[in-house]
Amino acid sequence: MASNSTPSEIKLEIVPQHIAIIMDGNGRWATKRGLPRLAGHRAGTENLRRVIRACVEFNVKYLTIYAFSTENWARPVDEVEGLMHILEEVIDKELDELDKEGVQLKHIGRLEQLSSTLRKKVERSIEVTKDNNRLTLCIAWNYGGRDEIVHAIQNMIKDGIKPDQVNDALVSKYLFTAGIPDPDLIIRTSGEMRISNFLIWQGSYSEWYFTQTLWPDFDREELFKALIVFNQRDRRYGRLSECAEEDENNAG
Ligand code: IPE
Ligand code: IPE
Ligand code: MG
Repeated sequence: MASNSTPSEIKLEIVPQHIAIIMDGNGRWATKRGLPRLAGHRAGTENLRRVIRACVEFNVKYLTIYAFSTENWARPVDEVEGLMHILEEVIDKELDELDKEGVQLKHIGRLEQLSSTLRKKVERSIEVTKDNNRLTLCIAWNYGGRDEIVHAIQNMIKDGIKPDQVNDALVSKYLFTAGIPDPDLIIRTSGEMRISNFLIWQGSYSEWYFTQTLWPDFDREELFKALIVFNQRDRRYGRLSECAEEDENNAG
């Protein structure tokens, strides 16, 4: 792994195909500096550019970011409106650049509750970037893991699915994440150690990485540290190490 600031002797044997991030700590980052919370959300958004670049550099194929949860509607109206505005601005300002860099945008969650302007912008950005394949950036906005499962069950019933047709693979197909591999690594910044309704189905065998670092400060080096820790993990999937290794060797 050649790079300017990463020690050259460190090599990553395995790069996770899919990293998901709970980008937490924007509010505390701002409060620590005597700034309004929205300044923290802006700093967090700028940081996202850096992390997207780092993912492209490290050859990560999927990055899912938790940016607005179904529970975040319960925040003060000003903050909710500010966050919606930031998403709109990001699409306006960054779409061309992301498209040029080969980033494909996807959305998970419900778009129905967003303003029609914002909804259309999100839909357009998905359409414009649909053939890109360098990195898939999946934005979890108005996303909740329980809501996703409820939505999936409702649609299965609407489609007349019979009980004996329901299995793991079918449920996965009905989730917002259909077609996206499960995350290998889930990172949560800011020291909180909970799932907060994020990818509760898909994360069943993800490796978790928690850091005290607040999201606006979680830079390329911090991501690299997480990847090093990920490389030290033994993913057993309920088996014994030797069996898991044997299966991997046979598969590859
Ligand atoms: C995460 O930062 C971003 C969103 C939830 C939108 P927070 O806003 O939760 O920041 P803290 O946790 O209050 O510091
Ligand atoms: C999770 O962070 C949601 C996002 C990062 C978008 P929160 O700050 O909303 O989660 P809790 O309230 O600490 O669990
Ligand atoms: Mg938070």
